[in-house]
Amino acid sequence: MENKRGLWTSNYGFLMAAVGSAVGLGNIWGFPYKMGANGGFAFLLVYLVLIIFVGFIVMLGELALGRKTGKGAVGTYVALSKKFKWIGWMGLLSAFLIMSFYSVLGGYCIKYMFVNIGNLFGGHAGTGADIFTALITNQGASILFTFVFMLITCVIVMGGISGGIEKFSAVAMPVLFVMLIVVIIRSLTLDGAVEGLKFMFVPNFAPFKENFLGVLSTAGGQMFFSLSLGMGCMITYGSYLSKKESLEKNAIIIPIADTIVAILAGLAVIPAAYALGGTDAALAGPKLLFITLQNVFDAMGAIGPFFGFLFYLLVIIAAVTSAISLVEVIATFFLDRAEAKGRKGNRKTITIIASVGIMILASIVAADGLGATGMWQPLGFCWLEFMDLWSEGIMMPIGALLMSLFIGYELGIDKFGEEIEIGGNKFKSKSFFSLCIKIIVPIAMLFILLGQLQSFGIINIL
Ligand code: PHE
Repeated sequence: MENKRGLWTSNYGFLMAAVGSAVGLGNIWGFPYKMGANGGFAFLLVYLVLIIFVGFIVMLGELALGRKTGKGAVGTYVALSKKFKWIGWMGLLSAFLIMSFYSVLGGYCIKYMFVNIGNLFGGHAGTGADIFTALITNQGASILFTFVFMLITCVIVMGGISGGIEKFSAVAMPVLFVMLIVVIIRSLTLDGAVEGLKFMFVPNFAPFKENFLGVLSTAGGQMFFSLSLGMGCMITYGSYLSKKESLEKNAIIIPIADTIVAILAGLAVIPAAYALGGTDAALAGPKLLFITLQNVFDAMGAIGPFFGFLFYLLVIIAAVTSAISLVEVIATFFLDRAEAKGRKGNRKTITIIASVGIMILASIVAADGLGATGMWQPLGFCWLEFMDLWSEGIMMPIGALLMSLFIGYELGIDKFGEEIEIGGNKFKSKSFFSLCIKIIVPIAMLFILLGQLQSFGIINIL
């Protein structure tokens, strides 16, 4: 019965796709800097504790709900509880909003990959800041590169779960890993790299004393975005997983792999930025990727553009494997809806329509160029931040919060546990899961929501 919708062909394939979703821009430009600025190794410990009590729990919750119903974000809640239906709708909307800026950033990476290819063949495109300013103020080019990124994403999703997403991720993720190791070796062997290592790893409890709640909410916010939680992505991916596989095992492996890649990404970028980026180099966000690191590759001499090319290709792969999971949330929604009406949806048509919808929204973000082109700014945010505020800032934490309440109090742990135990698996973490989903996760997610609102400057209480 479940085979009608298609399934991952193997647990390995599923894992590569799920880890691919988790590993994205968040790992590369969010985690390393946040870890360094918020206590180094001490921050990492807090992050790991949050993963155990919140990340693992929400991950298991989403995977199991999806597999239980065999439906995507909206379909799952429609099947289980009319009252909670709108969590699914928020997830669907979040997928559109995240894609509206993710695709623009992915497009920028494509441009930078070409810049480095050009430099490799003797060109010189100018400093990171020159290239970036020229790019974000050029609306046509920004939209064009966004389009190229969307096209790649769209083609993969059109291929379907096993034929597109799994096939691509099963190759792309190991390749990404190898490329990351190569870049790390170069980064760590630069003179002065050790300062970057110190920034990232030396435990520093000062931020804890100054603003412990701030550290906690930073770690929490980073965690759930990085794990692709709170918007139905893992529900959707879980819905294509065979009933034979152990959900608990997968819910442990995905966060571990994501965290390892986040730390590795830090080893790749932060030491290099310290060694060659200058003392006031930006270590986070778009500036890290598109100004600091481009300057780093420039400063490496003749071999620099080669590493630049490798690095931006790596980031493109990380971004594409995340983007396909976001588009899949939308595609699965329409496929489920067609099925509910007794029709068989056409995946290719659906994916193209979803991509066109995203492209329209993304064109606004691309044309805005992080506010550099003087377009009207909603609520004083640049369009990228505005889209990010509604998705990552508001709807995703609320989504995860409500999901935990739904499982803990509406569905019930026993009913939930049936799905985990299918196929002879034991629900080993049952009492731990129950405690966390009923009490710890709701409190943590409420708190993370406040932390997110604070980081966007909406409130000021933490
Ligand atoms: N986890 C991805 C990252 O770290 C972003 C993402 C969020 C992807 C939500 C899918 C769903 O960049």
